[in-house]
Amino acid sequence: MTEYKLEVTTGNKQYAGTWDHIFVTLFGTEGQSERTVLDNFGIDFTTGTTGNYTISTNLSLGKLLLVKVEKDPFLFLPEDEWYFSKIVATTPEGEAILFPCYRWISRGELVELRGGRALKVFEDDHPMLIDHRKEELILKKSLYQWKSWAEGLPHVNQYNKPPELPAEIRISKSKITEADNIKLQTGIELKLKGLLGSAEQWESIEDMKKIFWWKKTNMSVTEEMVKPFLEEGSSLQEELKKGNIFLYDQKKMDGIPPRSYNGEPLHVTAGLCLFYVNPGNKLMPIAIQLHQQPSEQNPIFLPSDLETDWLLAKMFIRNADAMDHQAVQHLMNTHFLAEAYTVAALRSFSVIHPLYKLLFPHFRYTLHINTESRITIIGPNGTINKSSLGIDGLMELMRRALSEMTYSSLCLPENITARGLESIPNFYYRDDGLKLWNIINSFVKAVVEYYYPSDSVVRKDTELQEWISEIFTHGLLGNKASGFPASFDTVEEVIKFITMVIFTVTAQHAAVNNGQFDYYSWVPNGTLLLRKPPPTTKGQSSMKTILETLPDVGDTVSVAALVCILSEKYTDVVPMGTYPEERFHELAPKQMIKEFQAQLSDLSEAISTRNLQLEIPYLYLNPTEIENSITI
Ligand code: FE2
Repeated sequence: MTEYKLEVTTGNKQYAGTWDHIFVTLFGTEGQSERTVLDNFGIDFTTGTTGNYTISTNLSLGKLLLVKVEKDPFLFLPEDEWYFSKIVATTPEGEAILFPCYRWISRGELVELRGGRALKVFEDDHPMLIDHRKEELILKKSLYQWKSWAEGLPHVNQYNKPPELPAEIRISKSKITEADNIKLQTGIELKLKGLLGSAEQWESIEDMKKIFWWKKTNMSVTEEMVKPFLEEGSSLQEELKKGNIFLYDQKKMDGIPPRSYNGEPLHVTAGLCLFYVNPGNKLMPIAIQLHQQPSEQNPIFLPSDLETDWLLAKMFIRNADAMDHQAVQHLMNTHFLAEAYTVAALRSFSVIHPLYKLLFPHFRYTLHINTESRITIIGPNGTINKSSLGIDGLMELMRRALSEMTYSSLCLPENITARGLESIPNFYYRDDGLKLWNIINSFVKAVVEYYYPSDSVVRKDTELQEWISEIFTHGLLGNKASGFPASFDTVEEVIKFITMVIFTVTAQHAAVNNGQFDYYSWVPNGTLLLRKPPPTTKGQSSMKTILETLPDVGDTVSVAALVCILSEKYTDVVPMGTYPEERFHELAPKQMIKEFQAQLSDLSEAISTRNLQLEIPYLYLNPTEIENSITI
């Protein structure tokens, strides 16, 4: 008699345990075990526990290849899903092999786990494993299919509602309950104040401060126009030479039709805003032109104008910026691209592939949250439809942005250089972001070089090639001008691409997501909706104009409630660089993860110390504040 010792771990999350019977069959190179029920004295498979079981066979099974796990009903009780984490199997020869699972299992589901060292497709040598891998990917391709959701935008997963999603990528029950509670709570608090749904205009700017009471936290500009705002004795030419002048050009908004509001079309400007790094090291706006073409009805607004004129001009720049931020920088460049990386990975990689093990934790919950947001946020009745551009206009904005998107714009070091932003003082997104980029890059380099000792290994890895090809075709819609790779030739290219992917779903998403409450809950600072046309002359505006232009009470509050929910923290958070699921069997990547964590922790300490000196601390890229994937 030979014995196989199994350590079977049930996840440590709400409702993870099960009363159902669990059966295991082991498959090895020399044969298979009996289908054996795992049953100890007392209760098995309770939340957060590891049970020890023994499976006996007449002879050794040789090299252990697969573990088949089945969940059968216990009596006539209703379905009792099990969150099954992992099995560690110790063979009679004394080898302990990790078989990771980390997913919910329903009754009658067939689960066959691959264990041991991560393997690329050409490294599988046993016919059983070769067949198993083929079948796994056929199943994955049928479970995860591409769907064109809107013309000209990245393709998405085919499921229409979150409950339809396969269990392995669905959000845990505890998080769903919590999210519902926060929505409810915010809605109720606002309703109590009688504000939600109100079509009244605000009576004063002061009144707006009353929301969120419980929670604190091509331009024809001339020398003469801006001279008063520059350092004494200096000129625009001189400051340009010194690199102190920056232009924010919103031309991508030009000509997109806004939606109608009370039967009239709204107004969205494609403005130009000139910024100056002043002697006090502050980046200040010094001139605004609200439309691309200079004309008499398109004056240059200056800080010395009537206070409300200058304020209105800034409000229109911020309105266009808020829509670009949400639709392009946030939704498309992080959420939708992450979805393309995820669907392509689920379809292309076997779970035993080293890059699947590396990437999958960074794709946690993303398909779920995106599928849901296509209903609640960007669906026909979604919150974003309240913006000046409305759903159709925002789609057009995203289409334009995707058609012009470049690979290098998603790689932070290249992005900063291309925009000439190296010298802006106190630019913490850049400072912290570049450090994070480098830390991610050194981690990815270590892992990728360990599994890909040469470029030829990259070229013959068909699963890796399929992954990048699907991303290029379905994420970038085959746009060669983007500079996105459609295949990989070198190890270096793989390292850069995976660095970009992990940076996007961790740091970049945190940077564009986590400050929404801080910057948008005070609606005059940045609003998705402005109700009146932009000013065409100077000296005609008043505070009344400002209040007529800002959203009404109900719209203000519903946008503020949305940014509140989107900036909320959940207890189910997995911080960047923590990998609670043990997916790698071999030691080397586990060591690399430890090194990655140590570097993130050092950076976190440095950022916290720096923030102590700041009047307004920059928190968003502190690794402790960044999630490991896009989950909100
Ligand atoms: Fe987000």
